[in-house]
Amino acid sequence: MSKAFVSVEGLSKHYPSPGKQSDLIVFDQVNIGIEKGDFVCIIGHSGCGKSTILNILAGLDVATSGGVIMDGKEISGPSLDRGVVFQNYSLLPWLSALQNVNFGVRARWPNWSKAEVEAHSTKYLNMVGLANSLHQKPSQLSGGMRQRVSIARAFATQPKLLLLDEPFGALDALTRGIIQDELIKIWSADQQTVFMITHDVDEAILLADRVLLMSNGPNARIAESVKINLPRPRERAHIIDHPGYYKIRNHLVNFLVNCSNQPARADSDRHATPIEIDPLVEVPHAGEEKPVTETGAGRKPAGSSLVSSIDSAPSLACRSGSDSTIF
Ligand SMILES: Nc1ncnc2c1ncn2[C@@H]1O[C@H](COP(=O)(O)OP(=O)(O)OP(=O)(O)O)[C@@H](O)[C@H]1O
Ligand SMILES: [Mg+2]
Repeated sequence: MSKAFVSVEGLSKHYPSPGKQSDLIVFDQVNIGIEKGDFVCIIGHSGCGKSTILNILAGLDVATSGGVIMDGKEISGPSLDRGVVFQNYSLLPWLSALQNVNFGVRARWPNWSKAEVEAHSTKYLNMVGLANSLHQKPSQLSGGMRQRVSIARAFATQPKLLLLDEPFGALDALTRGIIQDELIKIWSADQQTVFMITHDVDEAILLADRVLLMSNGPNARIAESVKINLPRPRERAHIIDHPGYYKIRNHLVNFLVNCSNQPARADSDRHATPIEIDPLVEVPHAGEEKPVTETGAGRKPAGSSLVSSIDSAPSLACRSGSDSTIF
């Protein structure tokens, strides 16, 4: 049987709970398969364990049990095959923006000349809009600018697997859009595989092939793997006009608002791989699957915006009145 490019197998993370008899089980028996070239987003409420999973994938944290195989080898520490953008943009504070990126590039291509390294790093810093801040140190940059240095550093090393922990959280909407577009260009040109944490449902639909939905901790699990079956290239200005857009969005929002705190029903459920869901395929009633038609459910009401409230969910079984799409 062929294995996925990245195979997360039975991953659990426990911490001792001082004064309590049992450990804190952050997540338990997480199983994920990621194919080469897949763009996978993971969404879940704060504290459920997303960054912990990403850090284990990066080789920077260890699981209590289970493991991760990438390209046939078990992950046992950091590697240049995996580029990380951390939630808190970890930069070396004594180096300038350019030197921070050079550091990664030099490690990746040790035979390159100084000029080649600088030209390559500068190209990626230009790409994230920092052409005028190459020689500034992190303390002289805003939070969003530091995050962009961190993004440039990860992109510049062209890793096989990009691990992005809320990479655009600190950016204004315009910059975020520009860098999202660059990410898509890099991903499609270099056939990279991306695993990205986001709290933004609309961002996940714009970027991902698949969204993993994580239930709340403790004892969190990946409950669903939701297919984003919208054609590419996707344009942010037009994606909401696709007849399936709101069907997918409603499914994700409904999970986060109403279903993410449901405990696993049974031990066997908790240990299972996530349920595969394609919101654009009707639940088969008579053994037959029907795709959503052009005039099908999920079309946005006139005048709503990309970041509007949960506004067109007539088919949702358990709906609440939340206004937010950032979780
Ligand atoms: N050293 C530690 N000791 C005990 N518990 C810890 C430790 N580190 C993390 N945790 C717990 O592990 C859980 C998962 O943390 P993690 O940072 O992975 O969450 P997250 O899903 O990334 O959250 P957010 O969306 O807020 O970034 C949290 O409940 C946190 O309190
Ligand atoms: Mg986190």
